[in-house]
Amino acid sequence: AAPERLVLRADVLDFTADPGFAPPAEAPGVRWRPDHRVCVEAGRIVAVLPAAQALPEGWASVPEQDHRGRLLLPGFIDTHVHCPQLDVIASHGAELLDWLNTCTFPAERRYADPAVSCDGAERFLKALWAHGTTSAVVFPTVHKVSAEALFEAADAQHMRLVTGKVLMDRFAPEGLLDDAADVTVAERDCADLIARWHGRGRLAYAVTVRFAATSTPAQLAMAGRLCHRHAGQPGAPGVFMQTHVAENRAEVDWVMSLFPEARSYLGVYERAGLLGPRAVLAHGIWLDAEDRAVLRAHGAQIAHCPSSNLFLGSGLFDWAQAQREGLRVSLASDVGGGTSLCLLRNMGDAYKIQALQGTRLSAWKALHAATLGAAEALGLGSEIGRIEPGCMADIAVWDWAVGEVARHRDAIACEAGDGSVATLHPRAFAWMTLGDERNLVGAWVAGRQVFARET
Ligand code: GUN
Ligand code: ZN
Repeated sequence: AAPERLVLRADVLDFTADPGFAPPAEAPGVRWRPDHRVCVEAGRIVAVLPAAQALPEGWASVPEQDHRGRLLLPGFIDTHVHCPQLDVIASHGAELLDWLNTCTFPAERRYADPAVSCDGAERFLKALWAHGTTSAVVFPTVHKVSAEALFEAADAQHMRLVTGKVLMDRFAPEGLLDDAADVTVAERDCADLIARWHGRGRLAYAVTVRFAATSTPAQLAMAGRLCHRHAGQPGAPGVFMQTHVAENRAEVDWVMSLFPEARSYLGVYERAGLLGPRAVLAHGIWLDAEDRAVLRAHGAQIAHCPSSNLFLGSGLFDWAQAQREGLRVSLASDVGGGTSLCLLRNMGDAYKIQALQGTRLSAWKALHAATLGAAEALGLGSEIGRIEPGCMADIAVWDWAVGEVARHRDAIACEAGDGSVATLHPRAFAWMTLGDERNLVGAWVAGRQVFARET
């Protein structure tokens, strides 16, 4: 059979390098290709051409979706999000440790039930796509079946997904704990999951330590052994590692009291052998300069979770400082501590968090972090995060403006610009700040449309 083909016509925006905190008008690394056609074949992008240019031989009869006047970007990459916490998103009332005990842990217990895990995984992936996110690094629950359900649902759509059974064996309720008396039980579950899913299709396993407080030293050591044992080799990339670090001051104090010999909270993970280029650590608000140097030396990344940090009152992450110190920072929703799966809304929160610290985040930096920046930090820069031949066709198409106010603002930004990338930032920034999932027109995973707005 002929490979499946598709053509999308729109204004294409993506990145070729990190724009950093440079003045947005300089637009380093921004690639703006107005009115282009993106040709997709067998799940991959095969050509990106100006609309005025002829299509390749044999493509004239391929169905084309005409999204002229709309934005086409790489699908967003959410580097830290909790599938089961769609059940507790927007819960009133507490800082991190209370919120875990009163809202989160009780909800996660239900995922022991395979039916709950399967329904939850399907609902979650559909929700990601409906928010323009096509790849994610995901926390399920401690239950093996909750990771299986996510792998299965993602694999069915050929989606790039990184997840792994949560490891936790203390300080959580019954029904949400690995056997602390015998670490080999959880170790075997992880090894099974790795053997079955890691490297299958577009899936990858992440050794998933919830956070230092809920793992015994023995379990942390076991997690480190798993990372080491499955570190990969040329042509067969190793497993990821995901966890939380230095999110909340009471959490940091608690971890330090549990590990009095550790230099710092991050030091607990370092000592256990959990850090490396494939490590994704959420938050990192309360790290010190030495911690940041350790992260940089390991090539590990921070998943910055703006809406969560504000909602739980955790603190203000200093992104500009992290940039100066050469840290890799990606952007994440951290639902359900975060209040929206929409990474545009999280970018708006990120801007405000930097504003409170005297710096101004550009739309370019924010959008880069959610696309190419995340892809490269995950070692997946040749697969996702760009609209370029050879990359997978993970794509989102957005309206510039929805509703009277945003349309008015967009018209003014258009009048002020000349269509060039040098004058595009005001428009892109207003889109990022005012836009949300209602702006999303369609989403494609590996060339197949997984979301289409109804009107
Ligand atoms: N720290 C440990 N578990 C969690 C969680 O589920 N959410 C957040 N935001 N922080 C955590
Ligand atoms: Zn989290």
